[in-house]
Amino acid sequence: MEAQDRGKKAAGERAVVDLVKPGMKLGLGTGSTAYWAIVKTGELYRAGKLPGLVVVPTSFDTEIQCQSEGLAVRTLASPEVDGQLDLYLDGADEFTPTLDCIKGGGAAQLQEKIVCDASKSFVIIADESKAVAHLGTKFPVPVEIASLARLPLTRRLEALGAKVVLRYGKGKAGPVVTDNGNLILDLTFEHPVDCGLMEAKIQTLTGVIEVGLFAGRAQLAYLGRSDGTCDVLTPRRD
Ligand code: 5RP
Repeated sequence: MEAQDRGKKAAGERAVVDLVKPGMKLGLGTGSTAYWAIVKTGELYRAGKLPGLVVVPTSFDTEIQCQSEGLAVRTLASPEVDGQLDLYLDGADEFTPTLDCIKGGGAAQLQEKIVCDASKSFVIIADESKAVAHLGTKFPVPVEIASLARLPLTRRLEALGAKVVLRYGKGKAGPVVTDNGNLILDLTFEHPVDCGLMEAKIQTLTGVIEVGLFAGRAQLAYLGRSDGTCDVLTPRRD
């Protein structure tokens, strides 16, 4: 296993061991770090240590993994969930000391933000490479859009200072189509963005479904290191 993967595994496993309790309604994220949290949740659940736990996945990919782990998979509309979750564990593409983050490297930011905002608590799980000083200049900010709005939105996002690229994937000709049937525009900026301000600005543009900026939402970050240790970070508030 590579050093970065050891960090992802440490963060995902440790967060589950510390935070996931019997009877919880748990939102589970998408990606290679969330993968380890789902594996650990499955292991504890099958061992009878998490009776009554139900999970809500944030993508088709996570739903398939949760089912293969034997977890009790629900939706936000399931009666025992009733639109409210106790905890949401997920990776991030980048996060700052204030725990603002970019998500959507796996094109799941719409479901991820819905699950996040339905949860009492959001905890980031990430390896060391994801901790940054500022957002917006390195890892692209993904925006899920209605396909009809691709060109008008490209121009409006450029006017906000972004370089805009339509996301293409692998194993299919043409652009990435999300689990919800939409397209993704990836934005990079010359200067760091104010996460909350840019999130609000982009959300107002017609044709935008959701942006992968998550401002002021995370309560904790589990930062996994390649030696298998993990730091638990709280948001810095200056
Ligand atoms: C998916 C996400 C992921 O959480 C994010 O891309 C981090 O992924 P990974 O843990 O594989 O680095 O937002 O939409």
